[in-house]
Amino acid sequence: MFLDLEAFKDARRCHPQLSRMAGRLKPDPSRGSICLDTSPQNPTADLILLLTPMNSLQLIKKRLKRLRKLGFLYVETLKDSRRFFLSGNALADGTFDEAILEGEIVRNYHVIEKGLSMPEFRPGFGGDQVSHLVRIVQEWERREYPADNNQYLSAKAVLVAYRSRHEAIAHSAAERVPATLEIQDCFSGGIKQYLPASLADLDAFARTVRSRSSVRSFIPDQQPDPEVINLAIDDARWSPSVCNRQTARVHLYTGTRATELLKYQSGNRGFGHRVPLLIIVTSDLRYFSGINERYQGWIDGGMFSMLLLLGLHARGLGAVALNWSVLNKVDESIREPAGIPQYERIIMMIACGIPEPGCVVPVSTRRSVSDLTSWHL
Ligand SMILES: Cc1cc2nc3c(=O)[nH]c(=O)nc-3n(C[C@H](O)[C@H](O)[C@H](O)COP(=O)(O)O)c2cc1C
Repeated sequence: MFLDLEAFKDARRCHPQLSRMAGRLKPDPSRGSICLDTSPQNPTADLILLLTPMNSLQLIKKRLKRLRKLGFLYVETLKDSRRFFLSGNALADGTFDEAILEGEIVRNYHVIEKGLSMPEFRPGFGGDQVSHLVRIVQEWERREYPADNNQYLSAKAVLVAYRSRHEAIAHSAAERVPATLEIQDCFSGGIKQYLPASLADLDAFARTVRSRSSVRSFIPDQQPDPEVINLAIDDARWSPSVCNRQTARVHLYTGTRATELLKYQSGNRGFGHRVPLLIIVTSDLRYFSGINERYQGWIDGGMFSMLLLLGLHARGLGAVALNWSVLNKVDESIREPAGIPQYERIIMMIACGIPEPGCVVPVSTRRSVSDLTSWHL
């Protein structure tokens, strides 16, 4: 219920103009038209909207159309929130136990990792979190979930780092971590030295970022080397994510399957039939918890996608992000043919291939730094 309410508020925020205008439309008999209330107390007085003369039937129709749009928006937002609610641990029904437990482990070990890296170390910090993490790590073992899961192993490494740090200052908090808890040698966790980026890399970074363009002309029958794609995904893994939960997932399709799936997306007209490799980036919602994280999938998935696009470009491949701005019924209908489970949120598609030699791309002029920056000093 709480989530539904939040969804309604989100929908309204997404369409402020609509709700604002609904209250501000007033007839102007002198002009025989409908205009927007532009009185001085109206903060958007410059938004004068003179509508063509219309009779009251037309006005009613127009208002009904707006209301219908608003209703649609609410329903769609509600459906978005439902997917989140039914996938995340907000409604754990046992089906997703392993993923949910893993998400809980990551969330908790990350808090301890952060505590260990704080500029002013607080001896004994995070008592509850440490005890909870010990419990859920033991729960993982009790359930015999994979012993080579790298998040589980990281959690153990973090706990050992916590214990060592407190042992070094003879603090009793060390005892929160059982002495029996050990880690494999190859697993490090806790803290590491920060390495500032080297100036020598700056040129390459700027060149790579600025030379990337959305490519829509691919050599149709030439598949990118899967090894190269894996390397780009390997880079994208380094994108930040909330509490390091790393929920982004990558689905890949080639040939007629790619062509078929592209039919669910409206922004590839004119080049979709020549796309050799289709990538769908999703976010696994099972790792999120609580209403406040309802948009995190889009954010983390978006950041991952950006790095993936750059990684593909850096390796000589062409790629273009393709929006997944669709109604829930379209989102629902692609899942089965694409093999995407219900608990993953589709973030975007990416068309990828070897750029056609000599192909051109739009200039896509960028706003200036000053246009988009406000220093609040
Ligand atoms: C989330 C997202 C969705 C996009 N969807 C489409 C799309 O459906 N079709 C398309 O041709 N381009 C799409 N683009 C590409 C944009 O048009 C392009 O990134 C923008 O114009 C800037 O150009 P550039 O990528 O060449 O710098 C999308 C980009 C993003 C980030």
